[in-house]
Amino acid sequence: MKVSYHGHSVVKIETNGTTILIDPFITGNAGTDLDAASVQADVILLTHGHGDHVGDTVEIAKRNNALVIASAELADVLSWEGVRTHAMSIGGAYTFGFGRVKLTQAFHSSSYVNPETKTIVYTGMPTGILFTAEGRTIYHAGDTGLFGDMKIIGERNRIDLAFLPIGDNHTMGPEDAAVAADWLQAKQVVPIHFNTFPFIEQVPVYFISLLKEGVGTVLESGESISLVSVKGCTQAKDGGA
Ligand code: NI
Ligand code: MN
Repeated sequence: MKVSYHGHSVVKIETNGTTILIDPFITGNAGTDLDAASVQADVILLTHGHGDHVGDTVEIAKRNNALVIASAELADVLSWEGVRTHAMSIGGAYTFGFGRVKLTQAFHSSSYVNPETKTIVYTGMPTGILFTAEGRTIYHAGDTGLFGDMKIIGERNRIDLAFLPIGDNHTMGPEDAAVAADWLQAKQVVPIHFNTFPFIEQVPVYFISLLKEGVGTVLESGESISLVSVKGCTQAKDGGA
């Protein structure tokens, strides 16, 4: 399984011939190497409804006939735009043909903001994502502050790779994200959601320095990590956290 980072909170997972994009915010993302007009995806996973996460979802999904998986209200809103969706809710998991998706809690907000009409459309609870395929589990925390149940997520899942926001202001900063990494017991940790905008400027190597030796990796946009398939083990360590 190849897992690549593409700036802000954009992660691409390639597993068994399926390409999955998480939070494909490309247009307006100065830090991405992707092109919204040509990026390929079979599946799009969304953590919440904010513009810097939904991003180019509708256009990419329509062009690729991709399945968009999101929390219930966000899936509803996107289905009204003509996108193929699968609605889920926090705490629920579903095993798709390409892997298992579970939505976890996140402490943040989730909405579509329309500045022209000065309206805000509520898009349900913000989430994190646990994705398991080839016996490997990836955790994408979405946008969130630190919360104590990250310990439980870590106890109940063998997390091979975690993407954690470090930008501060809207999410955890480096110190809180380092505590999160410890509680999650993730084998590898990659910082996300920093330096894209004012107020979330960080030095990622400082965050890495707060982690246990060898755990943290800064990925530049377009760089990837390969997770070797673990045969005969396709579930979380307790069989279904
Ligand atoms: Ni957000
Ligand atoms: Mn965000």
